[in-house]
Amino acid sequence: MTKIAAEAQQQTHKQTQSAQTKDKHLQPVKVGILGLGTVGSGTVNVLHNNRDEITRRAGRAIDVTHVALRDIKKKRDCNTQNIELSTDPFSIVNQPDIDVVVELIGGTDIARELVLQAIANGKHVVTANKALIAHHGNEIFAQAQKHGVVVAFEAAVAGGIPIIKSIREGLAGNRIEWLAGIINGTCNYILTQMQQYGRDFAEVLSEAQKLGYAEADPSFDIDGVDVAHKLTILASIAFGIPLQYNKVYVEGIRNITQLDVSYAEQLGYRIKHLGFARRQAQGIELRVHPCFISQQCLLAHVDGVMNAVLVEGDAVGQTLYYGAGAGANPTASSVVADLVEVVRTLTTDSENRVPHLAFQADALSTTPIMSIEAVESVYYIRMQARDEAGVLAEVTQILSELNISMEAILQKDRAEHANHVHVVILTHKVPEKHLNTAIERIEALPGIAENVLRVRVVDL
Ligand code: NDP
Ligand code: HSE
Repeated sequence: MTKIAAEAQQQTHKQTQSAQTKDKHLQPVKVGILGLGTVGSGTVNVLHNNRDEITRRAGRAIDVTHVALRDIKKKRDCNTQNIELSTDPFSIVNQPDIDVVVELIGGTDIARELVLQAIANGKHVVTANKALIAHHGNEIFAQAQKHGVVVAFEAAVAGGIPIIKSIREGLAGNRIEWLAGIINGTCNYILTQMQQYGRDFAEVLSEAQKLGYAEADPSFDIDGVDVAHKLTILASIAFGIPLQYNKVYVEGIRNITQLDVSYAEQLGYRIKHLGFARRQAQGIELRVHPCFISQQCLLAHVDGVMNAVLVEGDAVGQTLYYGAGAGANPTASSVVADLVEVVRTLTTDSENRVPHLAFQADALSTTPIMSIEAVESVYYIRMQARDEAGVLAEVTQILSELNISMEAILQKDRAEHANHVHVVILTHKVPEKHLNTAIERIEALPGIAENVLRVRVVDL
């Protein structure tokens, strides 16, 4: 073959290849979904209902071709016609035709294996699984980078609010100073119902479960674990640190009573369950606990299943992101947004994509996470004190010996213990370590019944 003929043949081959690639890029993107519960069904519905708008945005149609579930006979909240159903999720991550795997099973065991297998097979992954990202994200992102695929997780934090994209991209010019979020819909729903209607904790929790807001194990919601997962992710993308779930201080809302909700109201506050992360000179505060926040603060008015995240950046100042934090369609909104983003990046160079954790993987910082004992705060404390002379004097003596000054001390309603009353104290700012010592000593007084309850006051 002459040189000219060989060049012509090469040119024809390139044209055929390019036509095939172009053709492939006009075909719908094939998606396999793992899990068809609340979020899985919502995702199928949103993809179906908004198909044209989504295609116009992504440049290609997105088709769900396969779904994995446990019970094939169970009635579903979405149309499964034209979708191949399987009880073997590995058959989907190993299916060569599928371009993107959407993990909506939850948990950290099988979900981790499935996601790593999908990545190893060169598939992009979308997940709503905050537990998976908080515990195994460092490993998963390293594998994704190695295999040149995207792992997108917008739905993992604050349901339908595009908070990951906002911090990772919209605030990329800022040094983030702190963020505070109401990021568990179930807890916020419970606290709101207690505050507005005086309803019972257990009854409202069961309602939140029926509405599909709660985790498979609802103790993850009410004990703060779910917020800790989400805060781990937010702190990582805000401060450029690795995911460090084990270093988050976590407290849930189980000990909050109707009385505390009502005393907070009387003192000009609302009780909200917050995830809070802040840069300090000594390191980064990462804490999850119920908080008193001023009724003047916008976050105090975020009610029901709604979530909100307040972020302070040095250039922009404060920005607030608000929306539905759980539920089928709001969460599906974020899952589908990730799918559109993945489809848009299918043809981009994998080295030049937005980094998974906002900062370049080799530029993450080793700033330490502070222990809760090193944190300083204003505190609300409530105790049941025997209703007789001298008991309060002993309490105030302990506080004064530890240099804890008080903003207010109030004797409230009669307590459950005979001859005891509820006493409420608001302190000035004090190191947590000193307050712990004070609480230990107050609980040991003979005139004090049961444990002292403490809620941190957060000034935003
Ligand atoms: P659900 O419990 O409603 O759904 C889980 C689905 O996974 C079910 O369809 C179940 O099948 C399927 N599944 C479980 N194990 C297997 C398995 N081994 N093989 C195949 N299928 C399996 O959970 P959600 O939709 O509420 O949550 C999914 C994920 O999204 C979780 O990570 C959750 O934390 C997260 N998330 C949830 C939100 C919400 O509002 N619910 C909001 C934001 C994130 P079957 O139906 O047959 O039992
Ligand atoms: N159980 C979670 C919540 C779901 O109540 O916020 C959304 O992540």
